[in-house]
Amino acid sequence: MKKPDLKRPIRKAVFPVAGLGTRFLPATKVLPKEMLPLVDRPLIQRAVEEAREAGINEFIFVSGRGKSLIAEHFEYQPELVIALKEKNKTDLLEKVRASNLESGIFSTVLQQNPKGLGHAIWCASKILGNEPFALLLPDVMVLSEGKGCTAQMIDVYNKTGGNIIASAHVAKQDVKKYGILDVKDPKSRTSAIKGMVEKPEPAKAPSTLSIIGRYILQPEIFTILEKQKAGSGGEIQLTDAMQTLLKTQPFTSMELRDPYFDCGHHTGFIEANIAFALKDPVFGAQMKKILSRYAKG
Ligand code: G1P
Repeated sequence: MKKPDLKRPIRKAVFPVAGLGTRFLPATKVLPKEMLPLVDRPLIQRAVEEAREAGINEFIFVSGRGKSLIAEHFEYQPELVIALKEKNKTDLLEKVRASNLESGIFSTVLQQNPKGLGHAIWCASKILGNEPFALLLPDVMVLSEGKGCTAQMIDVYNKTGGNIIASAHVAKQDVKKYGILDVKDPKSRTSAIKGMVEKPEPAKAPSTLSIIGRYILQPEIFTILEKQKAGSGGEIQLTDAMQTLLKTQPFTSMELRDPYFDCGHHTGFIEANIAFALKDPVFGAQMKKILSRYAKG
């Protein structure tokens, strides 16, 4: 069989957005959790912007029932544009325009049953075809001052090819919440991955280096996912499929040096809003003053 070319350009990004967001109820009773705002725009828009900045020009949402607002957010809204033009609100007009995606570059595919992250990615396989792709979990937000996380990963990919996983160390007691990597050279920012395991018990974890939720993957993952059995939590786990692909393709870990936030739970989401607001060119200075008032207790 012909060997796959593992250095083809990354043109597509996948965003799994089918989750129910039960942790955020009642806020997410009708509003998809990916539409919760991080300062001035929804989490999903920030994730799409991160992929765009990395040169990606096709966006695929793996969505679920009742989540049509996500795709709608990226649609043109002529009435809004007319109203803002009439009122001369050019700043807002620019913001609205920046949230549009052009015709033909985004699509939604449905994950009909919540069978896990591995299954969600497999649901996008027909649209992705035989191409490598970026995968961004929109729960995780990275606060980069220079290049975004996905752009940094593409720089690594352009050198190494294959599959790339962004990683960061977590506290030992927290390894059971994440996919955990076993890397060849733990001291280096980028290193070949020797193995990985989903949500291990701390005593069995190969390290404290966690998978943060940003990946570049080769399409051969789909043939593995097709047959993947349920793993941790009774779900079809992407980490298990990647561990199988590791036997035939290289995987590189890129340790993230930028702050990042798990917006999938309240405190992480609130902290992200504080951190992003403090760095925001419009709200930053004002936020600093506000926070210092609260810091005094
Ligand atoms: C998923 C992945 C896990 C990764 C985590 C990052 O887990 O399965 O490997 O570490 O995202 O947020 P989940 O958070 O969906 O349980």
